[in-house]
Amino acid sequence: MSDTDLYTGREQTLVKHSILRQYLERFAIIVGTRRDTLTYVDCFSGPWNVQSEDFKDSSFSIALEQLRKARRVHQDKTGRILRLRCLFLEKTRSAFTKLKQFTDKITDVEIEPQNKKLEDAIPLILEFVRKGGSRSFPFIFIDPTGWTGFEMSTIAPLLKIEPGEVLINFMTGHIRRFIDYPEKVNQQSFVKFFGSEDFRNKVKGLAQQEREDAAVEEYIRNVKATGNFPYVCSAIVLHPEIDRTAFHLIYATRSLAGVEVFKDAEKHAMAVMEKARAEAKQRKREEKTRQTELYSGEVLHDPIYYDSLRERYLAKSKRSVLDLLEAHTKVPYDQACALTLSFPLSWESDLKEWIQSWVTEDMLSITGLKARQRVPQRGQGIVLVWKGSRERRLVDL
Ligand SMILES: C[S@@+](CC[C@H](N)C(=O)[O-])C[C@H]1O[C@@H](n2cnc3c(N)ncnc32)[C@H](O)[C@@H]1O
Repeated sequence: MSDTDLYTGREQTLVKHSILRQYLERFAIIVGTRRDTLTYVDCFSGPWNVQSEDFKDSSFSIALEQLRKARRVHQDKTGRILRLRCLFLEKTRSAFTKLKQFTDKITDVEIEPQNKKLEDAIPLILEFVRKGGSRSFPFIFIDPTGWTGFEMSTIAPLLKIEPGEVLINFMTGHIRRFIDYPEKVNQQSFVKFFGSEDFRNKVKGLAQQEREDAAVEEYIRNVKATGNFPYVCSAIVLHPEIDRTAFHLIYATRSLAGVEVFKDAEKHAMAVMEKARAEAKQRKREEKTRQTELYSGEVLHDPIYYDSLRERYLAKSKRSVLDLLEAHTKVPYDQACALTLSFPLSWESDLKEWIQSWVTEDMLSITGLKARQRVPQRGQGIVLVWKGSRERRLVDL
């Protein structure tokens, strides 16, 4: 079975694993230059709907593979051997038995599998992270099946770990479906999940896509505040066969370099996603018509939904950057970049294009560029100076 076949019918997991895979490798290489220990905690490990016998389509196996790769890179370069530590939590007995069979065979990484619910394991996780020592960097992955079991107050101690980064699967599809159910128990579960009651007013009366955005934004706001994270961004993962969001992956970090790595992983995963969706949609059509199509799914795929989402978030992102420029006149390039990257499907290359057109239209100047440097780069103290007017700005939008 090819690696892609392992994800037939659950292509959204392929996209999730693509982001995790690409992000973790670069994360471990970069962080491993400054730290001698990487501590990885998967709070909802599985295995879950795994197709391969050796679990290569599980997040825990992918994480191990990527961390080991980074360890090899460092060893080859400097002879230094990164210490790798993993804590894998799994609540269900049957899944845990498989997880344990897998981890029992591993001897080159410090691994602690635990048959526990996340809610009951917070002190254990904190202790595991603490034991990594002062030269360790922790990464926490929270990949649930719904919106319970990781209430904001439950995960708050994990979000507060410093240094540290967190990746959370926000189950948009489920949340969208149940967020308005008026039953008291249901509403209370959402208050606990978001960490406040504010979400109700934020999503009230909004149409579907706006509601979804508002819910994700509210969750991000709470993650940011709880963990004191300067940077939180999200990646959209779509259903394979229908034009709807399956979930968002929400990434919280205290490093702009981390954001860059996550956004690269997002960009790459979006191409993987559109290819997988093209094939999934073709499979669905062929099952329905019982006819094999002449051309590949990719050739026949209409990317209109994906394109409309990209346009949507680009417009939001551009408007936010313009608001920032207009409010402050002088804005560090790094700040504009962080804002651009906080939106899904919005990348630094987009910001550079906007900047170029604003400069051409004499609405913006740039200070701090080196001689003959035309394009701003992060980390160079470059400042954007806004000269445009509101009228021109409206025309621009
Ligand atoms: C979506 S699956 C994880 C998939 C895995 N991260 C991957 O990508 O391969 C969620 C897993 O968490 C387990 N689980 C559910 N609630 C839990 C809880 N409160 N604490 C720990 N594990 C839980 C489920 O049994 C399931 O195996």
